[in-house]
Amino acid sequence: MVKETNKNLKTVNTEQTEIQLVWLSEQDTQYFAERLSKQLSLLAEPVNLFIELHGDLGSGKTTLVRYLLQALGVTGRIKSPTYAIVESYDEVRDASLKPLPVWHFDFYRFKDPLEWEEAGFRDIFAGPGIKLVEWPEMAESELPLADIAILIIANSDNSRTATVLAKTPSGNKVLSALS
Ligand SMILES: Nc1ncnc2c1ncn2[C@@H]1O[C@H](COP(=O)(O)OP(=O)(O)OP(=O)(O)O)[C@@H](O)[C@H]1O
Ligand SMILES: [Mg+2]
Repeated sequence: MVKETNKNLKTVNTEQTEIQLVWLSEQDTQYFAERLSKQLSLLAEPVNLFIELHGDLGSGKTTLVRYLLQALGVTGRIKSPTYAIVESYDEVRDASLKPLPVWHFDFYRFKDPLEWEEAGFRDIFAGPGIKLVEWPEMAESELPLADIAILIIANSDNSRTATVLAKTPSGNKVLSALS
């Protein structure tokens, strides 16, 4: 595959926007996260966006989420929610400076569908906010349709190939402005 940097985003399909890019380093991941965060102001308020992150262990999902949270204005420590399943952030503001709740999920250790109700996950996905989800495969039967799916593959030279796909009109709005 031809190497591209973030500066050369390519739209494969205009109906359902799909972008393929190569991140040569974490700096490219950060650059993408910053660009993505800026597009969120295009969404109608209250902002409601669900981004699922696919990719093997160590592919770079948490790394992307960290840069995205920082780009959104999170300043404190960003923990990987591997054990807690979810970490929430309440300091992010939307374009009108209203609070924009953000959740970072990692369903790698999610097993009990009963926990879905009890932990309040159903309510979170039913309401507004930004939901960033690692290992959605582990909670597939519970999760609604994502707006954007990102697949990260680690290449042998340590670069990452990312495929970013819009699955809903909101996702399309965000991605078409990115490409
Ligand atoms: N674009 C990149 N280029 C080079 N290295 C990267 C890149 N993105 C992430 N890494 C490195 O890959 C390693 C694993 O990253 P990370 O923890 O984000 O993976 P993950 O996909 O969240 O894994 P898990 O499935 O275990 O949660 C880290 O050491 C990180 O620094
Ligand atoms: Mg992770």
